[in-house]
Amino acid sequence: MIKTDILVIGSGIAGLTFAIKMATKRPDLTITVLTKTVERESNTRYAQGGVAAVWNEETDTFKKHIEDTLDAGDGLCDEEIVQIVVEEGPDRVQDIIDWGARFDRGKDKKDYDLGREGGHSENRILHYKDLTGWEMQRTLADKAATISNIEILEHYFAIDLITQHHLGYTVTRVTPNIECFGVYVLNKKTGEIETILAKSTIVATGGAGQIYKNTTNPVIATGDGIAMVYRAKGRLSNMEFVQFHPTGLYNPAGENPAFLISEAVRGYGGILKSKDGEEFMKQYDRRGSLAPRDIVARAIDKEMKMRGEEFMCLDCRHLDKEGFLAHFPTIYDKCKSIGIDAMEDMIPVTPACHYMCGGIWTNEMGQSSINNLYACGECTYSGLHGANRLASNSLLEAMVFAHRIHLDLLEKIDDLEINENIPGWHTRGTMEPKEMVLITQSMKELKDIMSYYVGIVRSNVRLKRANDRLGILYRETEELYNSTAISPQLCELRNLITIAYLVTRSASMRRESRGLHYTTDFPNKLAFIENSVL
Ligand code: FAD
Ligand code: SIN
Repeated sequence: MIKTDILVIGSGIAGLTFAIKMATKRPDLTITVLTKTVERESNTRYAQGGVAAVWNEETDTFKKHIEDTLDAGDGLCDEEIVQIVVEEGPDRVQDIIDWGARFDRGKDKKDYDLGREGGHSENRILHYKDLTGWEMQRTLADKAATISNIEILEHYFAIDLITQHHLGYTVTRVTPNIECFGVYVLNKKTGEIETILAKSTIVATGGAGQIYKNTTNPVIATGDGIAMVYRAKGRLSNMEFVQFHPTGLYNPAGENPAFLISEAVRGYGGILKSKDGEEFMKQYDRRGSLAPRDIVARAIDKEMKMRGEEFMCLDCRHLDKEGFLAHFPTIYDKCKSIGIDAMEDMIPVTPACHYMCGGIWTNEMGQSSINNLYACGECTYSGLHGANRLASNSLLEAMVFAHRIHLDLLEKIDDLEINENIPGWHTRGTMEPKEMVLITQSMKELKDIMSYYVGIVRSNVRLKRANDRLGILYRETEELYNSTAISPQLCELRNLITIAYLVTRSASMRRESRGLHYTTDFPNKLAFIENSVL
């Protein structure tokens, strides 16, 4: 059994930003950070475009960034949260700059080179070439390494949150004052399941893109934290809003994850076209290739289906080569590696699952509906993104809420205690899983179901079919879970099935089309606007 003052599950931008702030303010506390692979592997690490913040006050204003966020969110953003994130954003970006993050500067080297992405009315994206996430993850990991009261445990896979349920009480979705005492964790190196107890726990486990076949998310993005909170009977919201990025690189060889062609390329002047060179976006939105993501992804999906094509194209051939190479060296090299010279050929692109706009419900201080449990980053529904996230608002959201959680916890931590009266993990099945194919095949089926029936365009029939198929997968997987020894693969499959079910169920509940949720049965918006709650 491990005891720690504060337990953070996840070492991406959300988890590490919180850990650094809290550990610095309270060097007397132990802060334990779990990560299921290595510290630097996360969605954060792959972020390309950058982080949005009002930086140039001569041209940009908070009002404009707020309006762009609300517009992309299609009526479902929480306006108070949007205001908080936008107005606190520049200070949080300054924090990470102070910790050593480098962002590209313009020609005069004095000011930052601010990029633009879909849905933004101004240039306000700070970036480091096309490797912004890598640079931010590097900065955070380097900074955390200098702080002695942060302990990072790599290859520790969180399985379940510990609540009163593990003390023998019945806990349901309407039980008041559910409490989190810590987490059961699989130590991947020893194969043992350990109990970690904490005064307060922060879930910062990132997204769940791996429910789809084609996703920009790394293989670790299996929605573990959201599924854990759901099993612990915590509140979730808006799970139907899954963002597809319009421009994943189409690679005929197939790739998991799909390589992203950043929206910043369109911000730099890249234009979406069909194979035969037709610019099709203007007929869908006056902003053309730079319309918000839901609109562009749906348009590409429609054009591909109408034309019977496997991809559409991004034309960068007219752009200045030197500038393109300076801004997008990784994208240029990746395209080159599959035989495409972005300066001479159009880049083949196709939409790919990219971001979960819904997740663990949190209040304005990052507190979840479970006592002593906060959540931060992509695993949350904070109210910022509504029905569709504005590009480059995700890294910003994680930093703002990591800061707010640390402020809230600074006030509370001295009144909290560890509950020592927690039983060890109750071993279920002990049989070694002899046939890994049962897990890998179910994983493939799950991705097929979600990609064919719960993708960019949905309908009642498709959702019902998905729900029925997911029910079978769920029952088979629970049987396996109860009879075999626990493995990370089995836990991930179980979590992915839970997320797929939650997305499908929330999609079935929404009887309108809004933002990222489009259904042919209810193509219009309802006048009465509501978040979905599970
Ligand atoms: P992550 O960075 O995903 O970190 C999750 C952490 O949780 C990892 O350390 C993981 O190991 C750990 N974890 C998960 N499950 C468990 C478990 N069971 N046990 C223990 N540990 C666990 N957003 C922007 O704002 N701007 C961009 O330019 C941008 N570009 C992107 C490009 C790509 C290709 C992708 C995939 C995303 C991009 N995003 C971008 C989105 C953004 O990167 C993510 O939303 C954000 O980084 C999420 O940060 P996080 O800390 O919440 O989660
Ligand atoms: C991108 O670079 O296109 C991704 C930006 C984001 O997801 O916010």
